[in-house]
Amino acid sequence: MKSFPKRYDSLQKKLPILALFHLTFLHSLTISSDDGWPKPYSPHDNIALDCGSTGNNTDLAGRSWLLDGTIYLDQSNKVSVISSSPTKGDSIPYRTARLSRSQFSYSFRVTPGPKFIRLHFYPTSYQEFNRSNAFFDVHIGRYFLLRNFGAALTADDLKSEVFSREFCINVDDQKLNILFTPNPFMPDSYAFINGIEIVSMPNNLYYSAEDDSGFNFVNQVKPYHILKNQALETVYRLNIGGSSISPAQDTGMYRSWSEDDDYLTNGEHSVLPVNLRMNPSFSVIPNYSSPVSVYRTARTMGTNKTVNENYRLTWEFRVDSGFTYFVRLHFCEFQVEITEPGDRVFQIYIDNIVAEPQADVISWAGGRGVPVYRDYAVMIGRAGTEKKRNVSIALHPAPAWRTKYSDAILNGVEIFKLSNDGNLAGPNPDRIPIRPPDSSLSPATMPHNKRTTIFPIVIGVFSGFAALSLLCFLIFRPKSRVEGSGSSEGSSSRYPFRSSLWCPFSYKDYSSLDGSG
Ligand SMILES: *[C@@H]1O[C@H](CO)[C@@H](O)[C@H](O)[C@H]1NC(C)=O
Ligand SMILES: *[C@@H]1O[C@H](CO)[C@@H](O)[C@H](O)[C@H]1NC(C)=O
Ligand SMILES: *[C@@H]1O[C@H](CO)[C@@H](O)[C@H](O)[C@H]1NC(C)=O
Repeated sequence: MKSFPKRYDSLQKKLPILALFHLTFLHSLTISSDDGWPKPYSPHDNIALDCGSTGNNTDLAGRSWLLDGTIYLDQSNKVSVISSSPTKGDSIPYRTARLSRSQFSYSFRVTPGPKFIRLHFYPTSYQEFNRSNAFFDVHIGRYFLLRNFGAALTADDLKSEVFSREFCINVDDQKLNILFTPNPFMPDSYAFINGIEIVSMPNNLYYSAEDDSGFNFVNQVKPYHILKNQALETVYRLNIGGSSISPAQDTGMYRSWSEDDDYLTNGEHSVLPVNLRMNPSFSVIPNYSSPVSVYRTARTMGTNKTVNENYRLTWEFRVDSGFTYFVRLHFCEFQVEITEPGDRVFQIYIDNIVAEPQADVISWAGGRGVPVYRDYAVMIGRAGTEKKRNVSIALHPAPAWRTKYSDAILNGVEIFKLSNDGNLAGPNPDRIPIRPPDSSLSPATMPHNKRTTIFPIVIGVFSGFAALSLLCFLIFRPKSRVEGSGSSEGSSSRYPFRSSLWCPFSYKDYSSLDGSG
């Protein structure tokens, strides 16, 4: 068996400048290619509330956020107050908040079906509401989304001033009530919220169809289904090998996609192939599944067969123990060398267990340039008192007789926590001794998901001509697009997705928290 063709190496040597160029401009390019086109999906319910705001507002990406007081907030509770955040951060919906020391709720009239519920938080001290005292529950119907949620602890753990949490819930009737309840055992506790989104999603995007035969439940015999009575929480959503994708650049559902560098444990040999010219053909999965830019970038193991055969390309994700997780892996083969079934066959490990003994994207998809995804469920048990642990996703080449190239590819990852008897809430992160966020930092300058690892080599599947036309395109792009790219970068950093992990104590832990500051 041969390793990757010589062409690869020579391309790499000739292309470093172009390669760097591609990566740097990938972000703006994907924005412009998404701008102004009809989105593959348009949600029937699409509500964005700027809680505490006294007027409707438009964010930098052009999305409207409505004031919350007139229609949606249950006005029978008169005790909630609104407040502007003390920093002059101009990012919507974090400028204002709705706060209360007693329970308050929002109700929405929606169509039945699955919805995204996004809750946006900027934990800071609002007037007499001390940042450290925000501990509260959030319910929707019988679902416990957050329990004794320490918003400030969560932000400190994320080293981010603002964050959001994304849930998926299937609504049976036409009412959706979100209930905020301050911790009744803490004298000064209060609940707050900066922004709420309710966005419809396609019926069977994540929830299994009635006739669906289910998917692989790792290490279990029976297949797994996502049932309508389950609630989901998005814990990670990554554009593997590409740049972050802001809500406005999603397929119409306002999801955010992060870069994968921070989760990669051994990427020093991996490479980042890119094919910006490929127009993915959505013949297997619907075109709203992921933005096309997810399928135009990927991470592969490297060009040295010997090296690849001796390691597993591994990402690690910190998750709450004691839950089952739903993992969706996105794939698309776009490299010119990979055309036939058997060209690139690999194994997929989830939590160190073989989830897929022979992944072959070409044979799943039926050809090059056709996106597919594969779903898995994995149970992450709790050993003793541990609150969280890492779950890994790892790729390894199939045995050499089985595959032409000893390599593996991954384009995107989504990981969801699945409700356990209606509960999604996990423990709060531990209090961090030194408060990390610099309080002079405004949300707009919040730490951004920087590329920290080695700058991997881009395998240009690019001809010099394509690169040249890209260059011209970028140079002659209208200025508004360039501004658009800046603002979207800003907004993507305002949705720090990796965030979504940390939840509260269970009630029995209250004693350990009271006033200990
Ligand atoms: C997405 O797919 C649908 C159904 O196949 C099609 O009608 C629609 O035009 C596509 N949208 C985009 C933006 O490609
Ligand atoms: C591949 O890696 C091995 C082990 O590090 C090394 O001995 C070999 O020279 C490399 N092959 C190529 C083609 O670079
Ligand atoms: C907020 O609470 C913390 C911890 O209880 C305390 O150290 C701090 O002084 C309080 N801040 C204000 C402004 O009251």
